[in-house]
Amino acid sequence: MSLHPNGPNRGQVAALRWFPGHPSSVGDVRRFIANRLQYCAEPDAAILVASELASNALQHTESGNWTTGFLVMLEHTAEGALITVHDAGSASHVPYIATPPLDTERGRGLHLVDRLTESWGSQGGPAERMTWGVVRCH
Ligand SMILES: Nc1ncnc2c1ncn2[C@@H]1O[C@H](COP(=O)(O)OP(=O)(O)OP(=O)(O)O)[C@@H](O)[C@H]1O
Ligand SMILES: [Mg+2]
Repeated sequence: MSLHPNGPNRGQVAALRWFPGHPSSVGDVRRFIANRLQYCAEPDAAILVASELASNALQHTESGNWTTGFLVMLEHTAEGALITVHDAGSASHVPYIATPPLDTERGRGLHLVDRLTESWGSQGGPAERMTWGVVRCH
């Protein structure tokens, strides 16, 4: 089976890309993932997870600076699609699952990630962080 990026199995090729630290990058991340999950019958969960992780990198870490940005990596594992967002770290935030009051607008992104993934995690600190999730592709 050929895994050349321009071959017929392009949808299964692992990929890595840098995105600039700008809100418009979130849409580009969704497109990046969608284009490479053509083998997934239901790619929506993977796209949503990538979208939440990328938004967090932009909003809560140094990756929000245009020239710093963040990396998104897509790999294929036996469990499903592994999506990793590598950000530039934060001196003041660490990822956690918040328990926002019902009328609070924010704080549900990682809840969604937790529900949509087979497994997820985060490791890093003030200088860099990787947050990842594995999403089943039915
Ligand atoms: N990559 C990250 N690095 C450091 N802190 C993070 C990161 N991602 C999330 N956090 C922290 O975890 C908290 C919870 O993240 P979560 O995505 O659930 O909520 P939110 O981003 O605040 O709001 P929402 O996702 O609903 O817009 C964030 O408020 C932030 O403090
Ligand atoms: Mg969030």
